[in-house]
Amino acid sequence: MAKIRRMQECDLDQVAALEQLIFSEPWSRRSFEETYLKKENCYLVVVEEGQVLAYCGLWGILGEGDICNVAVREDIRRHGLAEAMLNELLKEAGAMGIHAFTLEVRVGNAPAIALYHKLGFEDAGVRPGFYEKPREDALIMWKFSSNSH
Ligand SMILES: CC(C)(COP(=O)(O)OP(=O)(O)OC[C@H]1O[C@@H](n2cnc3c(N)ncnc32)[C@H](O)[C@@H]1OP(=O)(O)O)[C@@H](O)C(=O)NCCC(=O)NCCS
Repeated sequence: MAKIRRMQECDLDQVAALEQLIFSEPWSRRSFEETYLKKENCYLVVVEEGQVLAYCGLWGILGEGDICNVAVREDIRRHGLAEAMLNELLKEAGAMGIHAFTLEVRVGNAPAIALYHKLGFEDAGVRPGFYEKPREDALIMWKFSSNSH
């Protein structure tokens, strides 16, 4: 049975390996290492029998949460893992006093945009040419939970 919990040191090799497989501009293991434990951040993994199936991260900045890494292993997508993991991330961030959330996503990433819309994120603007490999605009999205001002 898969479990959602905070990212730990023992997850970093698997997280970095998944990141390499999934993204064209992957974060390095060191980038995760330097950020996952910061007290203003929150990084979660979904694990089953020692295998990392999915991960996500949020940076808390001045009371706002910037969701910066969201990925699910390719062979187990469309099973609700991202939705469950992000709902848990929003809950944990709420407990940290964060009630406004933002993220960027490639304008052509229909699965991720559908996921974020389902979670209540709204389109808030476009950042032209934000991504490389390939160059693409970013859609900026926001979600304000009921406790936000
Ligand atoms: C985007 C991603 C994280 C979704 O993970 P997932 O575990 O497959 O998503 P879920 O099963 O939790 O789906 C939840 C909802 O998201 C939407 N969704 C997810 N994948 C979708 C797809 N391929 N097409 C359309 N909608 C999709 C649906 O609304 C879905 O709800 P439903 O199943 O009731 O229709 C996954 O496809 C992924 O890792 N992609 C590569 C990395 C990436 O693009 N990350 C986002 C960077 S901003």
